[in-house]
Amino acid sequence: MSKIEALKLIGNTPMVHLKTLDPKPGVEIWAKLETANPTGSYKDRIVKYMVEKGIESGEIKKNTTLVEGSSGNTGAAVAMIASSMGLKSILYVPDKCSDEKVAIIRSFGAEVSVVNAPASYEAAAAERAKEDETFYHIDQYNNQLNPEAHYMTTGKEIWDDMNGDIDVFVATASTGGAVSGIARRLKENNTNVKVVLADPEGSIYKPYFEGKENYMDYKKPFKVEGAGKMAIVKAMHFNLMDEAIAFNDEQAIEMTLRLAKDEGLMVGGSSGGNVWTALEVAKKMESPAKIVTIIPDSGFKYMSKIFNPLWLREIGLGHLADN
Ligand SMILES: Cc1ncc(COP(=O)(O)O)c(C=O)c1O
Repeated sequence: MSKIEALKLIGNTPMVHLKTLDPKPGVEIWAKLETANPTGSYKDRIVKYMVEKGIESGEIKKNTTLVEGSSGNTGAAVAMIASSMGLKSILYVPDKCSDEKVAIIRSFGAEVSVVNAPASYEAAAAERAKEDETFYHIDQYNNQLNPEAHYMTTGKEIWDDMNGDIDVFVATASTGGAVSGIARRLKENNTNVKVVLADPEGSIYKPYFEGKENYMDYKKPFKVEGAGKMAIVKAMHFNLMDEAIAFNDEQAIEMTLRLAKDEGLMVGGSSGGNVWTALEVAKKMESPAKIVTIIPDSGFKYMSKIFNPLWLREIGLGHLADN
């Protein structure tokens, strides 16, 4: 184990029991700890999978430049994988992206541009990708290799980690790749597994899933990064979802801080949203039950935000810093 190439460090992450959260004896909440991936998020999995497939098909060659739009985590994964394979990379991120995430992408040697809202970072990447025939667009929002990567790796690992003992799986979605790929694997293995989409207030996914015709009217800004979406994209497979539950910034951030204080887990805001939602589900379950969720990324990416009392005060959540 002493000599290993960086790409082999992706996946096979630990599953942890969030013991202080179990709402009643026999009702357990478990979380797959994706912070253990090299860039601290589960996006390493999809980029590795897509690049391997691209090399197999001949679309990715030695002189290829990987191009992508990302809320930050996929950008870090693209930059890291490009660096470890001797490729170049170009990333577009939204202005909401934490400074840490931009710095991480730059450190891997990538070109990174911050796109100010309302301009779209995905559109900027798509346009740039057309400029040169050596550019390869990862296109995580529409590329079916994204959910497939989670079906082949994360979903399979979750099933094995839990020995198939899973009642409900809870996860938030942006591209939808993680929740869709994991849901397909778990439901294929046991049709009784229920999948709950955890969606930030302000995302259109929950109203769309619930059949609201005016789902676009539900759009509003929120602070948690990486969760939710303002458009319907192809990597998100709503047919595999059984229910959607909304969380707000305060609930997600309070849970994120609690996971650090009570469980020793330094995680990002979407993890807080996932675990908050998993707890809501768990409270309604009868014993015995196992609710599984996922920790998409590391809290170290949000030191200037969620773990910074000044930022919490700026967004009106200063009371959370005082606890
Ligand atoms: C921190 C974080 N959480 C959750 C997600 C959602 O994952 P997915 O895009 O697979 O739906 C992302 C994706 O950008 C993310 O960066």
